[in-house]
Amino acid sequence: MTRAPDLQLRGEILVVDDEIEVLRVICAMLRRAGMAPRPVVDPIRALEAARLDPPDLILLDVKMPQVSGLAWCRELKQNPHLTEIPVLFMSGYDSEEQRAAAFEAGGTDYISKPLHEQELVSRVRAHLQGGMLRRVLRDQNALLRERVDEQLRIIGEQREVALAQANALLDLHASGTATREELVGKALTAALRLSGTAAAIFAVRAHVQSGMQVTTVATRAASGDIDVRSVRGPLAGTGVRRCLWEKRPYLAHDAASVGLLGDALADLPGPLARACFVPVVERDAVTALVAVFGRPSAYDETHIRGLQGIVDTLWQILKRREAEESLQASLVEARKLALAVEQSPAAVVVTDRDGRIEYVNHKFCEVTGYTPEEVLGKNPRVLKSGWTAPRDYAAMWRLLTAGQTWTGVFQNLRKDGSSFWERASISPMRASPDAPITHFVGVKEDITAQRTLEAQLQQAQQLEAIGQLAAGVAHEINTPSQYVSDNLSFLTHAWERLAPLLTAAAADAADATGRGPSPSWLLERVPSALASAREGLDRIQSIVGAMRDFSHRGDGKPHAVDLHQLIASSAMITRNSWKYVAALVTEVDPDAASVEGVGGELGQVVINLIVNAAHALEGQPRANDGAVGRIVVGTRPVPERDAVELFVSDDGPGVPSAIRARVFDPFFTTKPRGKGTGQGLAIAHNIVTDRHGGRLWLEETPGGGATFRVELPRQAASHRRRPPHA
Ligand SMILES: Nc1ncnc2c1ncn2[C@@H]1O[C@H](COP(=O)(O)OP(=O)(O)OP(=O)(O)O)[C@@H](O)[C@H]1O
Ligand SMILES: [Mg+2]
Repeated sequence: MTRAPDLQLRGEILVVDDEIEVLRVICAMLRRAGMAPRPVVDPIRALEAARLDPPDLILLDVKMPQVSGLAWCRELKQNPHLTEIPVLFMSGYDSEEQRAAAFEAGGTDYISKPLHEQELVSRVRAHLQGGMLRRVLRDQNALLRERVDEQLRIIGEQREVALAQANALLDLHASGTATREELVGKALTAALRLSGTAAAIFAVRAHVQSGMQVTTVATRAASGDIDVRSVRGPLAGTGVRRCLWEKRPYLAHDAASVGLLGDALADLPGPLARACFVPVVERDAVTALVAVFGRPSAYDETHIRGLQGIVDTLWQILKRREAEESLQASLVEARKLALAVEQSPAAVVVTDRDGRIEYVNHKFCEVTGYTPEEVLGKNPRVLKSGWTAPRDYAAMWRLLTAGQTWTGVFQNLRKDGSSFWERASISPMRASPDAPITHFVGVKEDITAQRTLEAQLQQAQQLEAIGQLAAGVAHEINTPSQYVSDNLSFLTHAWERLAPLLTAAAADAADATGRGPSPSWLLERVPSALASAREGLDRIQSIVGAMRDFSHRGDGKPHAVDLHQLIASSAMITRNSWKYVAALVTEVDPDAASVEGVGGELGQVVINLIVNAAHALEGQPRANDGAVGRIVVGTRPVPERDAVELFVSDDGPGVPSAIRARVFDPFFTTKPRGKGTGQGLAIAHNIVTDRHGGRLWLEETPGGGATFRVELPRQAASHRRRPPHA
């Protein structure tokens, strides 16, 4: 702070005059005015006195014998330290020229002798004040200059630090491919440069409880070369602890507070008496820091700001790098998983909470025939066949929304309308066990082939069971019917011999009492009774024959098969299904009786076709009450292909054109649950085409009804592919 000029200051005045008396008078006047005169008679000594102890003002006689006052003044003004002291000339001889010469010599004022006390004092005082003001002004100027210089120096330094920081930040941001070590190295090099320091370190800590671990050290050699190296070791000491506790930069001004820097830093160049610790604070904890050591002069705010910018930026970049790397890693992981799901042998479908499809994999599309674009955003309901009961769906949703997994079997529809079976496992998806459900994922396995085989096996087993039963029954009935037949033959024969005798007896007994059956009545009724018994027995025997034929399935290898016998026994076996709704007639061509094949399997085909025809005729309205439908089973030779054709036709409602293409699909049925499994035609088709190398098709029947035709080569194809249910 500058002092305000004290204008009452007692002025020290050098009075130079060769006349002692004059000196005395002047000094007395000045003292009276409160000033401090220093009288000097000898001008040479006076010059010396002014140099040794510069006065505030000089009163100088113009005319002195040794040296003129003008010359004296000029010499005084030569000295830069004295040049500002005001010089007042005193002279008894006053002329314009003399005054001019006095001012020229550097004089400030000119007073004429004889001196008047009041004038002298007021002039001296005025010049004292002027001189004092000038001095004060000069001092203040000097002070101001000093301050400006200091500010310029600070600004210069800040500019340098800011520039070093800006360069470092640019460099860090531009280090796209640099490794983590390289980035830290760059940051420490910048820290060294901007703080004008000998050593810098970077330390991190894994978590709040653990200590700071130094990872990198940068040092500057006397040559100015900077060396960066990775180190491992704890960072300990007062400075670090203060920085961790206070979570803000810490300046250590002496070796004691710099503290121990641990083994890793043992070879840092000394002296490390000063240090500046600048932390990275995240979520109210220090996670990393940069520290610089050994600046020749103290660190200040400028350095802290510069270092803070660098360490914050470095940390941001490192964190971003880390996040990018882990994102990259999780992307790779996710891509792997996505590929696994996409290429999974099971169909996978993911829906949102509301059941809208968000993802389907390749297998899903393969199984259902839909492209992803056709189902995305839709509900899996598009696959619903209607065969799964609404209450089963309700149960499924209850389980899913309760966060549980549902496992079960659906019968669904492909895009082309064909049905398929799938075993599905549907689970809710959520980010964590407590998080809300965001999606559902269904993993489904197409079990149609398996189901088809199961159903085929089931039908085969059923037929086998019926066959066994039929064989048993046939066997049991065969024996008694055999002896009933033998006895009937005997009775018929006996009757033929008895009849003439009875005729004669009848004549004799013409006038008998008429009690009991008369011979003529017997003659009339016995033959018809015998004939009716024979007819009934023949029927029993043909049924038994059919049953035996049916049960005689053979060994599964092709043999000569009598198609007409096969038709007869099939008609017999299925009689129960058609007898109330249709009359069954056969239209067989004797030339088409024989083919080579597996009798049991061909019987299965004919039975399925007859049962389908009977089902089609059920409940059909008829013009005349009591009239029934008609099923025709027939054969015809197909010489051009050395084959025979077997057909089953009915005059039922026929097959609607919309489902014609699908009747041979496994599980395709229009019948209510429990009545049809949709397997009959699929099995028949398989037996005819795959097992016998023939063809089975549905023919358009003009005037309604349905006709299924089977063409079988007479010679069994040797290349049968697979057994019907293997
Ligand atoms: N003669 C026919 N007249 C009209 N429709 C028929 C006839 N034969 C078959 N169909 C139709 O074809 C469908 C499939 O027949 P298929 O024999 O494969 O199965 P199903 O008879 O329904 O059941 P299953 O035979 O397994 O008991 C039937 O549901 C029916 O709609
Ligand atoms: Mg059927």
